[in-house]
This record gives sequence, C-alpha cells and structure tokens, in this order.
Amino acid sequence: MNSLTFYQLLLAILLFKSPFLKSKNTTVSSRFLDSVLQDYAFKTFSQHRPKTGIIYDGNVAPEFTGITVSALRLRSGGLRRKGYYGYKEFDIPAGVLENPYVARVVLVYHNLGNWSEVYYPLPGYLFLSPVVGLLAYNASHMTAEMLPELDLRASENPIMIRFGSLGVLADGVLAKCAFFDLFGGVEFARVVNGSVCLSLKQGHFVVVVEENVPAPAPVKSPEMPIAVGGGRDGGRNGWWVGGLVGGLFLVVAAAVVVGVLVALRRCVRRRRVEKMEYVAEGGVPLAVAAVGNDKMPVAMETRTKPVLENDYVTVS
Ligand SMILES: *[C@@H]1O[C@H](CO)[C@@H](O)[C@H](O)[C@H]1NC(C)=O
Ligand SMILES: *[C@@H]1O[C@H](CO)[C@@H](O)[C@H](O)[C@H]1NC(C)=O
Ligand SMILES: *[C@@H]1O[C@H](CO)[C@@H](O)[C@H](O)[C@H]1NC(C)=O
Ligand SMILES: *[C@@H]1O[C@H](CO)[C@@H](O)[C@H](O)[C@H]1NC(C)=O
Repeated sequence: MNSLTFYQLLLAILLFKSPFLKSKNTTVSSRFLDSVLQDYAFKTFSQHRPKTGIIYDGNVAPEFTGITVSALRLRSGGLRRKGYYGYKEFDIPAGVLENPYVARVVLVYHNLGNWSEVYYPLPGYLFLSPVVGLLAYNASHMTAEMLPELDLRASENPIMIRFGSLGVLADGVLAKCAFFDLFGGVEFARVVNGSVCLSLKQGHFVVVVEENVPAPAPVKSPEMPIAVGGGRDGGRNGWWVGGLVGGLFLVVAAAVVVGVLVALRRCVRRRRVEKMEYVAEGGVPLAVAAVGNDKMPVAMETRTKPVLENDYVTVS
C-alpha cells in the first residue's frame, strides 16, 4: 500500500463522517420550508400595522399544522446595540450583526413541532425538544416571497436558545445541542445550564440525546489519538472509525518501517559491492602505507602493523 492510497482512504473516511454529506433531499426540503415559512411570517405584517419590536405570530396553511411561525421587525442599529431578549426561545444579545447591512431586519422564528424530525432527520438521535429556527431577512421587501436570508452573526456574546424543561434524563445520559446551518451542515455542542444552547449564527436548533446509549463502556484499550468524525464527539461510530483508522495507521507504519529497513539493507549491500568494484578497478580505497621503497595496500584498522621481512619485498 503506498501512502497515496492511504491518504485517499483517510479522506474517504473523513468525508463519509462529514455532516456535509447529509442527504441532499433533506436540505432541499428544509430550505423549501424556510421559504414557505418566510412567506407566512411576512403575511402577518399585512394583517397589522407592523410596529418595530413587536412579535407577530403567523398562521400556516393546514398542511403544515403543528408548525408555528412568528415575525419580528427591528432596526438593525437597535439590534446591534441592545439585542432582543425573549423572542420565544431566543435571547439575542447586543453585537448581533446582519450582512449585508440593511436598515431594518425581520427575524423570522420557526417552531417545527411534530414536524421537527421530518424536516431535520438526525439518525441515531432522539429529539428532546422541537426544532426551533431563527432566520434574518431584509425588512424593506415586505411583500416579497422567496427572499434570500441575510447572514446573521453574533460578534460579542452568543445567541442563547432557552429550551424549557427537557424531561428527566437517565443518569450519565448527555444531552447535546444540534445546530443545523442553512447549507445542510450539522454541528453539535454541549447544553449549558440544563437546557440552553449557544450559537454565533442563525439556523435551526434542537436538543438531542444519542439513541441506544452504550451500556457500561468496555475497557478501553489505548488507541492512536486520531481525531475523526466532524463534530460527532464521543459517538460509538467515532470510536469505531477511530479504531479502524488507528489500526490502519499501525499497519501502514509497520509497512513503512519494514520498507525502510529493506531499502537500507539493500543500500548498504550495494555500497559494499560498489566499494569492492572500486577496489577491483584500481581506485584508492585502501590506505596505502609506504613499505620499503614501494607502496602497498594496508588495511585501515589493522591492530598489528604488518611485519615485513626484507626478503619478501619485491622491488619492481
Ligand atoms: C428524495 O425526494 C424524492 C421526491 O422529492 C423522494 O421520492 C425520494 O424518496 C427522496 N429520497 C430520499 C433519499 O429521501
Ligand atoms: C402534526 O400534528 C398535526 C395535528 O396536531 C397533524 O395534522 C400533522 O399531520 C402532524 N404531523 C406529523 C408529521 O405527524
Ligand atoms: C433591501 O431591500 C431594499 C428594498 O427593496 C433594497 O433597496 C435593498 O438593496 C435591500 N438590501 C439588501 C442588502 O438586499
Ligand atoms: C447559567 O446559570 C447561571 C447561574 O444561574 C447564570 O449566571 C448564567 O448566566 C447562565 N448562563 C446561561 C447561558 O444561561
């Protein structure tokens, strides 16, 4: 196995584990839902004289029963300076900026209720809360449909998503925040203060727990500490892949060591042969000592100097 195929294999494993490989279908359907809900949220403004800083709850078509949507219009300067606390589950701190800049933003809130796992499936995890979302739009297009989202980011403190009670968890079961960005990516983070998720970006959020939480872990054998697994920390899959990659790494390392040893031996042998050839061709490989009037080759590291009797010295 050469190193190229090894790296290709490693890359394949990393990609396979990557959250960006989420089913394209899911992303398409959840993005379609985003634009449908943007439309329902904006429609609430046409039923009121929209005031800045007031939360308006929208209505969705019967086929989306179970989903709730709201809209909140804010001056972006006010959002940046003061934030907005208590927009449903969201506490938005000061320092949240939209990009590109608009004078007013509409923050659309989603609660997907019993549709959460339909639009944001997460195999291997149980949902402990509904999926809630926060998305920012240009408020100057009050009647527009299919508006693109603005990029919304927290520049100082993170946005807090306060889920109510999550129900009782068995001891040692770790709940996690799952964050879905608008591009099909999923990230996991820890839950703070029991039921709060933190985020620097807009998107959709849910508290999850791993399904089939492993029984008391088997005695861990020391493994190669290789980071794999695009954020799904501590998962059983992570373990498994970590072990596989660790094993592969060991096999490759052993192969490399053997290869180097063989090459080294071959090299040494060749040099010895070359040296011998060099000698045969009359080079100057051996130390030459003056013996009598003539010169003759002497081994470099002879412990005893050759004792030469005059009789044996031939003078040419
Ligand atoms: C993808 O979407 C199509 C229809 O939109 C559906 O028939 C198909 O089953 C979906 N595939 C997956 C893998 O969800
Ligand atoms: C969610 O609940 C509503 C009624 O409360 C129902 O009409 C709808 O079909 C449910 N959705 C799913 C995905 O089960
Ligand atoms: C927001 O909408 C207004 C009104 O259509 C438009 O003039 C402005 O360019 C938009 N801003 C951005 C960043 O799209
Ligand atoms: C967590 O709780 C502590 C103490 O109640 C509080 O000071 C802190 O602000 C809370 N943090 C978050 C992110 O809610």
